[in-house]
Amino acid sequence: MPEQFDIGIVGLGVMGRNFALNIGDHGFSVIGYDRNISKLQDLRLAAGERKVLAVESIEQLVGMLKVPRSVMMLVPAGPPVDAIIQEVLPFLEPGDMFIDGGNSHFTDTNTRAQHLIKKGIYLLGVGISGGEHGARFGPSLMPGGDKEAYERVRPIFEAVAAKVDGEPCVRYLGSGSAGHYVKMVHNGIEYGIMQLISETYDLMKRGLGLTNDELHSVYDQWNQGEINSYLIEITSRIFTRADDKTGKRLIDLILDEARQKGTGKWASQDAMELQVPIPTIDSAVSARDLSAYKAEREEANRKLSGPEAALKEDRDTFLKQLRNAFYSAMIITYTQGMALLTRASREYHYNLVLEDIAAIWRGGCIIRAALLERIRTVYQENADLPNLLLSELGEEVAQRQDDLRGVVESAARAGIPAPAFMASLAYFDGYRSAWLPANLIQAQRDYFGAHTYERVDIKGVFHTQWEQG
Ligand code: 6PG
Repeated sequence: MPEQFDIGIVGLGVMGRNFALNIGDHGFSVIGYDRNISKLQDLRLAAGERKVLAVESIEQLVGMLKVPRSVMMLVPAGPPVDAIIQEVLPFLEPGDMFIDGGNSHFTDTNTRAQHLIKKGIYLLGVGISGGEHGARFGPSLMPGGDKEAYERVRPIFEAVAAKVDGEPCVRYLGSGSAGHYVKMVHNGIEYGIMQLISETYDLMKRGLGLTNDELHSVYDQWNQGEINSYLIEITSRIFTRADDKTGKRLIDLILDEARQKGTGKWASQDAMELQVPIPTIDSAVSARDLSAYKAEREEANRKLSGPEAALKEDRDTFLKQLRNAFYSAMIITYTQGMALLTRASREYHYNLVLEDIAAIWRGGCIIRAALLERIRTVYQENADLPNLLLSELGEEVAQRQDDLRGVVESAARAGIPAPAFMASLAYFDGYRSAWLPANLIQAQRDYFGAHTYERVDIKGVFHTQWEQG
């Protein structure tokens, strides 16, 4: 009988190869397949003493897996996932399972799981964060799907995941597409924080005239304190990197048009669907979209004048203000993501445990940050908290609000776009307003469309003939 392997991986690109090697490092056996022969060769060369094998057909891969079988797909989201399912399915038996480790849209995961379970095959949708390095040395893993099916791969996942204080950054999150949903929201937060950082860059570069070396040291200092996070850390490093071709700083040679694969947009789309406000994340998606209109922006720049984009403020005072404003907006961004998860958990019956999600985001993933330990503690103490701003974190934003207001004001006055800061402040002010001007919207709706309104003083639904009287 040929050797039996613990898990199969289909798709041996950078993520697949690194994940296979990571599994091999922890003493599990893994068998990989890719249509592209050179990728098989890459894995074979890297495998060393590990129980890692690459084979040339799906049939071979399935035939060498322990039963019940676990076949993990690490391919781009969309049609490639369906293509692999079609290819592998004829060789599987009831009880076997697929694991989709890509950024699949959660509704696709639901559709696929419902289709597969009719044949007795399970599908785990697993969000994986941490890029190439994470896949190789410890990602954050966000698994969802059938709980018992997950138990089969749990030892592997716990071994390969990043560790924080000895705890693996993986927990079973919930049924169906819970894992992919949580990963989508992770990416929404990722977009929000990246946009906020890029706004701080703009304010410091154009507003204060900081050099790349100065930017490096500001972000490096920021990373030592309460905003310590992976994204701030890599940002600080980016400013010192020289271009191999010209010797100039690489950052200044990169075209200012942001691309996107869609996960941030999906988070915004579903938040709209569920009517959960996540304006910081929405503004981050829009800012990437706007950046892509480079030619139009250049034309508009010639036609539309504005302030000079220079800040009048004292440099050191403004830098302190900016750091505090960033910390506040960072809390607000996580708040919006968590609020979306809270609502989605009810709507889609995921039964998410927010404390677990904060815990597994503390290491391995792109949005890992010191703040997540605080968020985790908040949910540990109150699992049903509807919004993080109602916790001590909200009080911290309140204490720093003058700085957030100051940054928004300075940006507006200098004509430097700061949509994510502005959206964050407006969210904070909207959320803490016991009264909002929505009564006027109700009156207008009733005026032109007889949509009715409720009153503050009498129960019931009312309509007024606005033109009479
Ligand atoms: C991660 C990243 C990862 C990937 C995104 C980037 O958690 O490791 O989020 O999933 O880098 O797909 O997304 P955009 O191309 O949309 O920026």
